[in-house]
Order: sequence, then C-alpha cells, then structure tokens
Amino acid sequence: MSELLDLTAFPHDFLWGTATSAYQIEGAAAEDGRSPSIWDTFSHTPGRVAGDDHGDVACDHYHRWRADIGLMKRLGTNAYRLSIAWPRVVPGGDGPVNAKGLAFYDELIDGLLEAGITPSVTLYHWDLPQVLQDRGGWPVRDTAEHFAAYASVVADRLGDRVHHWTTLNEPLCSAWIGHLEGVMAPGLTDLTAAVRTSYHLLLGHGLAAQAIRAAAPGAEIGIVNNLNTVEAASDRPEDLAAARRMDGHTNRWWLDPVHGRGFPADMREVYGVELPERPGDLETIAAPLDWLGLNYYFPATVTDDPTGPAPHARAVRRPDVPRTGMDWEIDATGIETLLLRLTGEYGARKLYVTENGCAYPDVVRPDGTIDDPERQDYLVQHLAACASAARKGAPLAGYFAWSLLDNFEWAYGYDKRFGLVHVDYGTQTRTIKGSGHRYAEIIRDHRGRARRAA
Ligand code: FCB
Repeated sequence: MSELLDLTAFPHDFLWGTATSAYQIEGAAAEDGRSPSIWDTFSHTPGRVAGDDHGDVACDHYHRWRADIGLMKRLGTNAYRLSIAWPRVVPGGDGPVNAKGLAFYDELIDGLLEAGITPSVTLYHWDLPQVLQDRGGWPVRDTAEHFAAYASVVADRLGDRVHHWTTLNEPLCSAWIGHLEGVMAPGLTDLTAAVRTSYHLLLGHGLAAQAIRAAAPGAEIGIVNNLNTVEAASDRPEDLAAARRMDGHTNRWWLDPVHGRGFPADMREVYGVELPERPGDLETIAAPLDWLGLNYYFPATVTDDPTGPAPHARAVRRPDVPRTGMDWEIDATGIETLLLRLTGEYGARKLYVTENGCAYPDVVRPDGTIDDPERQDYLVQHLAACASAARKGAPLAGYFAWSLLDNFEWAYGYDKRFGLVHVDYGTQTRTIKGSGHRYAEIIRDHRGRARRAA
C-alpha cells in the first residue's frame, strides 16, 4: 500500500522516529536511586489501573536499551523520542542530583548517536516525583520552579549532544485527566486543583524553556500537545456552544498562552477559577519556541452537557465509524486539519507529529510473527494525511510513531498494545510486527526517492 503514499512533500532530512516514555517502558522502578513518582503511587493503588498493572518492570528498557536501539536500527528510523524520568535524576524533586540516574540517560544518548539516531528528549511525561506531590504537586507554584531547576540539570549534562527538547508532554492529560477526571495520576477530581495545575504546568514550561536555552544555546525547544478536531453533534445552538467550549478546553487553553495570547477569556469564565497569576508570568509562558509537537489519535464530536463537569460538554459516540482497540474513532483527516490549524492560526514555523498510533489486540501466530493489517492501514492513512498537510504548506519536519514497543498504557495497563514491536512481557522477547516492517519500507522508500531527487 505504500505505493499509494506520496511523501514527496516531506523534506529529505525528515525525521522518521518512534516515541516512548520513561514510566511506560523503563521498569527498574527502585533501582540506582530512583524515587517513586505519582504513577508508582497511582498504579500501586488497587483499582486504579486495569488488572492492577504497574510499571515496576514494564519493558525492562532500563536494562535492555542497547537491544532496543538495535530494533530502531532495524526499523530504519533516524530519530527517537524518549522522556527522562525526573525521579531518577532528582529523586528529591529538588536538590541533589542522582549521578546514576543521569548516567543512564547519558549512555543512552551516546548509544543513539552512535547508531545514527537523533534523540528528541521530553523532560516531563507525567512522572512527577511523589515527594513533590506530597508537597502540593502541580497546584503549587514551587513545582514549576523545581521543574525548571531539573530541566537545567538535564540540559547542562546532555545539551552538548541533544538538540531537540520538549518541555512537557500533553499537559492536558496531567491537568484535566489527572486532576479533574481522576483517571490518571494523581487521581484527583478537583476543578480548582486542575486549573491551577494547568497554569503551573505552562509556567513550568516557560521557565524550563529559559533554563534549557541558558544551558544549551543551540537547543531547538518545543512543547507537545494532544489536540482534537472538535465537531458539534448537531446544529442546535447548545451543541455548537459546547463544541466551542470543548475546543477551548482541549486546544485553545494550551495553545493560546504559549503564543502570547493569554488564557482564553471564555474558558476562564467557564472554569470560574481564579488563576494564580503574577506579573511577568504570561511573558514567561510565551517564551519563543522553535517548533510545536502534535500528538494525534482521534477526533471528538460533542454535545452540550449542562450538568456535567467543566467544560459542560460531552463526547458522543458516532455510529458506524471505524474504531481502534481503544474504542477510539479513526479519522485521519483530523491530523491534516490540526497541522494546518497550527500553521495557519498559530503561525507554526516547524511542526512534528510527536505521537500517532493505535492499539489492537495483536495475535502472535504459531510461527511467531504478528500480522496487524489494521495498524498498517492506520499508519498509512495518517501518513498520507500528513503528506497532504505538507503539500498545503504545513512545515512538517518529522513523524514519530507511537510507539516503538508495546508498553504500560497508563490506566489501561498492559492490555492495550500500541507498539510497532510486540513485547512478550513474560520473557521480554521483542518481535517486529507487520506494521513495523511496513514502517521500515515506507522510510526506505522516502529516503530512496529523496536521494534520487538530490
Ligand atoms: C498519549 C500519551 C502516550 C500514550 C498514548 C497512547 O496520550 O502521551 O504516553 O499513552 O497516548
């Protein structure tokens, strides 16, 4: 099917990557001085995660990273998006640095570079040190300052070799899913805490961006958001207003402040929570960025829900729409729409798709192979939509498939498999799925054409 893919709009130096995050793959939860994060606490609280799964061992990447780099080479990728575990590097949340924790990432980065793979480093993929949660967590301003101090430590050590930096992964999930819906760590359902969290995350982002620039002057810094296209379920004025609110909640609340537009006035009213603003904060939050990262999975169709929690809008299930094993709707046009929105409405100068992928209940066949035609279709459809966006002017510089490996899928545990590579958790055996082979073929094809065109 890759012959249907016209990727000529992608630049010749396009980053073809895979993505993971620390807590989802590393394991070694209590090794070499790592302290617990809010996800250790959450996953070890009975009933919070499907099957009471946790990340104690996960994919054991902490010990198997060399072999995992080997897998990236087999896929032919030239980039890898990873996250650093704050509780490994600064186990106390602030204060002393754990040399062993930092050394792990130091070696990993060297290993990637030796393999010709560009590292793209995310500083926060949801694993706040539990000690900081105990001191108030993200609802408290100090956490943003500690985050910047930790960012500075990491950039200082790795900034000579790492040029791609992400401050936060999907702050929406930390704030709304973790503090309002309560289904991710730290598991709160408190609007005030959630809004304060959103504010301090973005403040932390701005402070960390400054810290990275100071430590690594050539750094290319971005933020990664998971955005949705939002449609109203009907033409009723109530549903149209609900769609506008959901767009504010999911998209504008996270994009506007970073682009110097402040927090959207309509949403401030919807939340009715006073922001913990101090003079100068908005300028810090709007620190200039080099690129924007888009994580895209599914679109949203919403209806008015006046008695539900903020933003008083609820996603509805559209009948007869294809879905993944997460029960998420498949609509590749959404990725194109969002890339073009970031380009047109927010003036993005450089974009990466930092995550995109799908889970299916993969079956290992008797001969040990895994054929996953649905995941292959998803991949091809979304890449075609990215290419279409690029043809229409979106400055797309790379695509990172979620995920390199099957891994700990947060509240869903190990049941949901997003990998291009299958992991047998009993033996830690890795097997490249059909989709991984397809991805390798697409990458080879693009590279070949780019070389011929040069
Ligand atoms: C994103 C997360 C990532 C993974 C995918 C499926 O929201 O950033 O860690 O869980 O969803």
